[in-house]
Amino acid sequence: MEDNQDKPHAIMVPCPFQGHIIPFIHLAIKLASKGYIITFINTEKIHHQITNSSPDHDPKTTQDDIFTEARKSGLEIHYATISDGFPLGFDRSLNDDQFLHGLAHVFSAHVDDLFGKIVNKDSRISCLIADTFFGWPSMIAKKYNLVNVSFWTQPALVFTLYYHMDLLKINGHYDCHDNREDAIDYIPGVEGIKPKDLPSYLQASNTTTIVHGMIHKSVFEDVKKADFVICNAVEELEPKTISALQEKQPFYPIGPTFALNGFTMNTVATSLWSESDCTHWLQAKPHGSVLYVSFGSLACCSREEVAEIAHGLLLSEVSFIWVLRPGIMDSYDNDFLPVGFEDEIKDRGLVVPWSCQISVISHPTVGGFLTHCGWNSVLESIWFNVPMLCYPVFADQITNRKFVVDDWKIGFNLCDRKPISRDEIAEKINRLMSGKSANDLRKNMGQIKEKVEHSISSVGSSEKNFNQFIGDLKVRISNVTR
Ligand SMILES: *[C@@H]1O[C@H](CO)[C@@H](O)[C@H](O)[C@H]1NC(C)=O
Ligand SMILES: *[C@@H]1O[C@H](CO)[C@@H](O)[C@H](O)[C@H]1NC(C)=O
Repeated sequence: MEDNQDKPHAIMVPCPFQGHIIPFIHLAIKLASKGYIITFINTEKIHHQITNSSPDHDPKTTQDDIFTEARKSGLEIHYATISDGFPLGFDRSLNDDQFLHGLAHVFSAHVDDLFGKIVNKDSRISCLIADTFFGWPSMIAKKYNLVNVSFWTQPALVFTLYYHMDLLKINGHYDCHDNREDAIDYIPGVEGIKPKDLPSYLQASNTTTIVHGMIHKSVFEDVKKADFVICNAVEELEPKTISALQEKQPFYPIGPTFALNGFTMNTVATSLWSESDCTHWLQAKPHGSVLYVSFGSLACCSREEVAEIAHGLLLSEVSFIWVLRPGIMDSYDNDFLPVGFEDEIKDRGLVVPWSCQISVISHPTVGGFLTHCGWNSVLESIWFNVPMLCYPVFADQITNRKFVVDDWKIGFNLCDRKPISRDEIAEKINRLMSGKSANDLRKNMGQIKEKVEHSISSVGSSEKNFNQFIGDLKVRISNVTR
């Protein structure tokens, strides 16, 4: 039997956003179930928000650890929290610019403090697994003599586009007065991508924002010093991009990381908002008849867009669940729905502030997903065979749309970043939910789903890459003198 002393111990730090925390928690569980000891670090704010949203939250017994249940099943996952530089009451969503400045400039000092306390005390901690979006991992890894692993939670294509920002700039596709509009065909492993499909930040005319600074420091500079990069991507879906990256750096596509047995869903809370239970409502609907509408955890829409979508849903006559999270618009007013909307939809629609996405889209009565194309949403939609109507808002969502609509043909565009009318919305919803075009999407979806499903089977690429990563990491750890 392996001595506890010999077990590798990794410390994991996700970016404090919902879309990053979910794959990080799943990865932590996966590593722990392969015999790793994990110390998982959340910001105090994220911790506070997750525990306050959890259904069994009891304010009298302040739960101080989200992995308590996972530990009972034998996994060795420790948990610690850290300040992100702001008090709990600070509204990070309304003040996102200030918040991102804090993350870029203050957070690493808090990380350094915490590592000073825990890494120096426990000499078995040998490895750092940090979010690629951070700009400090190589500095911290060097200081504490840790093997550097960078975890990229989005597709490999998006990674390689940021990774090659310099090429885009030299060739006049990024950060120029008059960006070129022809296809980009010089990035290794990328077969021509149109500038309009680049992540929003690479299309911006102002490239001096805080996010640009963060991307430059992290995905362009710091990640190149990592010992290993792991990625929530699937080899069969992006073979050329991935093999080109593998020529530069040890790069392991291990996605999708989600837990399929429902294990994490039940035992580790990941949600930043209380989840409404929609299953009872869904049960009463016919098979494949419900449209699920959600813009994820971060994307913001304008009041006009939300109102137009509401009218479109009314006109379409399909049944729907609409997640309208608090803060979806850049204000907290709640009067953005058309007058009489809820009376008019009656039992046909359910509007909730937040839901457990997996339990909704896995439900057999759900037949379509109107989505902002966040990467977790795309992967989950594929997994449960639900075709998409794409409404990307920013960042990688723009590029993810290209995969879904142009490459894999498992979804339609709702609009291509042009204003859209309620009649068009209604028409596209109906086209997604029924008829010949909907059947074609479902057929294509079956093929993509098969690839993804195979990748995480015991003989699949992601499983193989994951085991390879664990083996390589072990060798690297044993070579680091401590
Ligand atoms: C992690 O990266 C830094 C920066 O490149 C490097 O100096 C250090 O050796 C790496 N850590 C280990 C343990 O290899
Ligand atoms: C670009 O963004 C920065 C940071 O948000 C801002 O200070 C600056 O005024 C912007 N420049 C232009 C030309 O809009």
